[in-house]
Amino acid sequence: MERRFEWPARESLGEASGKAILVGEHFVVHGAPALAIPVSARVSVRIRTGAGGVSGTPVATAGLTAMCEAVGLDRGAVDLSVEGDLPLGAGLGGSAALAAAFGRALGVEASGLAAFVHRLERIAHGRPSGLDGMTVTSGLPICLPSRTSTDEAREAEVGRAVDAEVLHIRPEDVPLWVAVVPRTGSTKEAVAQVGAWRERSPRDFEALMGKATGEAWAAREALCGGHWHELGAIFDSAHASLDSLGLVTPPVQALVDAARAAGAYGAKMSGAGLGGAMIAIAPEGLDLGLALRQARAMQILPPRGPRK
Ligand code: MEV
Repeated sequence: MERRFEWPARESLGEASGKAILVGEHFVVHGAPALAIPVSARVSVRIRTGAGGVSGTPVATAGLTAMCEAVGLDRGAVDLSVEGDLPLGAGLGGSAALAAAFGRALGVEASGLAAFVHRLERIAHGRPSGLDGMTVTSGLPICLPSRTSTDEAREAEVGRAVDAEVLHIRPEDVPLWVAVVPRTGSTKEAVAQVGAWRERSPRDFEALMGKATGEAWAAREALCGGHWHELGAIFDSAHASLDSLGLVTPPVQALVDAARAAGAYGAKMSGAGLGGAMIAIAPEGLDLGLALRQARAMQILPPRGPRK
C-alpha cells in the first residue's frame, strides 16, 4: 500500500462489527450478486505509544502484524491490542472487521475506509469481492450486483466494490441467528477450491452461478419486505449449492440440521465455509439457542432485536 503511517504520541481506539453473508458467497467472487448484513459481534484495535508489541489471540496478532507491515506502520514504537467478541477466521468477516477497526484507529477517514479495507483484504486473500469491506464499514446490509470482469478491473483500480447498494434496513430487525464451529481451511483455500471446481466443471458451475443470481435477487426482495419464511427457503436452496462445492463440513451441517429441526424457516453455511459460520432465519420469538448449543456451536449470536 502506498500510504505510510507515522504514529503520533497518543492513544486511539477503532472498532468494527463483523458481517454475515446472507446469500451469494463464493459466487460473488466470480461475478454473481450477493447480499450481506452486519452482525452484532465486534472487534476493537487499540494503538498506543509504547515499546512495540501486539497482543490478542494468535489469529488477531498475526492479522494485525501483517496489516502493520502492509501500511508501513513502524511497530517498534507502538503497542497494539485486539479485543472483542467477533470470532476471527470464522467466516464472519473477521479480517475485514479487523482492517476496518485498524483503519479507524489509524484515523483513516470514513469516506476512504472501504477502500482501505479492500486493499488489505487483497493482501489477505487475493481476490476479495469487496462485499465484506463494504458491509463492515457501512453498518447496513449491502447488495452487490452482478459484476463483469471490466467491473472487477475497475474495483481493483479504485480499491473498493463499485455499484454496491446500501439497503436501509436495520440489522437488528432481522431475526437472524448465527453460530460458529471451528474451521478446517482458510478463506484463501476455500476460494481456491471453488476456482478449481469451476475449472473442472465449467458448465455445472455456470448453472450454479445462474441459480445463485436468482437467489440473491429473491433474497433482496425477501429481506426488504421482511418475508422471513421466503428468505429461509432461499437459505436452504443456497446451502445445497455450497454443499455441492464441498464447502460444508459435518459440524456446520449439524448446526444447519439442528436449526431446521428446532423450527427455523431455513439455514445455511455463511462466508467462505470449510467450517466456520452457520446462519438461520427463524420465526420471531423462537429460541434456537439450546438446539445450537446441543449441536456443539462454539459461539452463538442471537438476533439483536428485543428478544436478546
Ligand atoms: C468470504 O466472507 C466470502 C467469499 O465470497 C469471499 C469474498 O467475497 O471475498 C468466500
